[in-house]
Amino acid sequence: MRRFGAVISGTGSALPEKRLTNGDLEKLVETDHDWIVQRTGITERRIAGADESTASLATLAAQRALDSAGVDAQDIDLIIVGTLTPEMLTPSTACILQQRLGIRRHIGALDINAACSGFVYSLAVASQFIAAGSVKRVLVVGAETLSRIVDYTDRGTCILFGDGAGAAVLTASDDAQRGVLAFELGADGGGAHFIHVPAGGSRAPATADTVAERQHYLKMNGREVYKFAVTQMTHSLKGAMESCGLTAETVRLVVPHQVNQRIIDSATEKMGFPKEKVFINIDKYGNTSAASVPIALDEACRQGRCGPGDYIIMVAFGAGLTWASATVKL
Ligand code: UT7
Repeated sequence: MRRFGAVISGTGSALPEKRLTNGDLEKLVETDHDWIVQRTGITERRIAGADESTASLATLAAQRALDSAGVDAQDIDLIIVGTLTPEMLTPSTACILQQRLGIRRHIGALDINAACSGFVYSLAVASQFIAAGSVKRVLVVGAETLSRIVDYTDRGTCILFGDGAGAAVLTASDDAQRGVLAFELGADGGGAHFIHVPAGGSRAPATADTVAERQHYLKMNGREVYKFAVTQMTHSLKGAMESCGLTAETVRLVVPHQVNQRIIDSATEKMGFPKEKVFINIDKYGNTSAASVPIALDEACRQGRCGPGDYIIMVAFGAGLTWASATVKL
């Protein structure tokens, strides 16, 4: 039972300055600009510099979200970071973020690894804490430096991914009919092998051999993920609309995981959304995994594509396999 609304009171994002264009990739692997644009919609991505990392991008995005919400970092009750490229294996990126933001209270801080679904998973978890009345303000972040695990000799993956971070402040409202109205989380571990990083965990700790065999890089079966993504995105969008009695007319904006322009177009067209109701920035940033939905949400809010009172749907899917949607009244 929802006692409080979990309202998005501010958003922020942060992107590295450095750009990696399709032309740059042509020099690294056998590919070409036109192929990448036609198959994915991507023109360039941002890549973290030597002095940047997941926590530094997360900190910047979080500060901007706190500013836009008008919330002091000291008043945050819980931090949740969605990431598959954490600052280090332990401690969590959320703990490092708490320290970087100078939060002195001993609040809860945790990471959620649901790959590209990580931000929407984190938003769902955060909203439950607020709805139950356990906390009042949660900082929810999606942050990645995928360039640190992407194999720039593999043209099937290196064209897709980029770095960045996005954040939202969720605030408790007495109006339970505002904020995160519904969500759906899903997983199918049977598809674990479709996207994975084989080494660096307990099964295959780092050795000279794992490094030589490039086992610390992301491996992906693009075709299988593509099929899964089109089906799941359509299904998730339908479920998200039905859960709140919404239609393509009453939803102001779909904020999808920026996975591939073709996947997004196919699913949103099937569900009857015109192009202007679907937020796209994949051309500039590529797929930033858990950071993609909150970066898109921040840009959409700042560009006036959605605002207070609007119904929006966020939808994501990725390694796991995982998927997640959230229906929100801003
Ligand atoms: O957040 C979830 C993360 N995962 C994803 O987003 C992946 C979803 N999948 C995709 O986006 C697409 O599968 C890709 C963009 C990765 C690939 O596009 P596709 O239309 O599925 O291409 P394909 O794998 O079916 O390959 C078609 C052809 C192949 O050549 P042949 O066998 O037909 O001669 C590939 O070898 O394109 C070739 N190819 C490339 N050519 C130029 C594959 N990668 C490239 C490349 N440049 N980068």
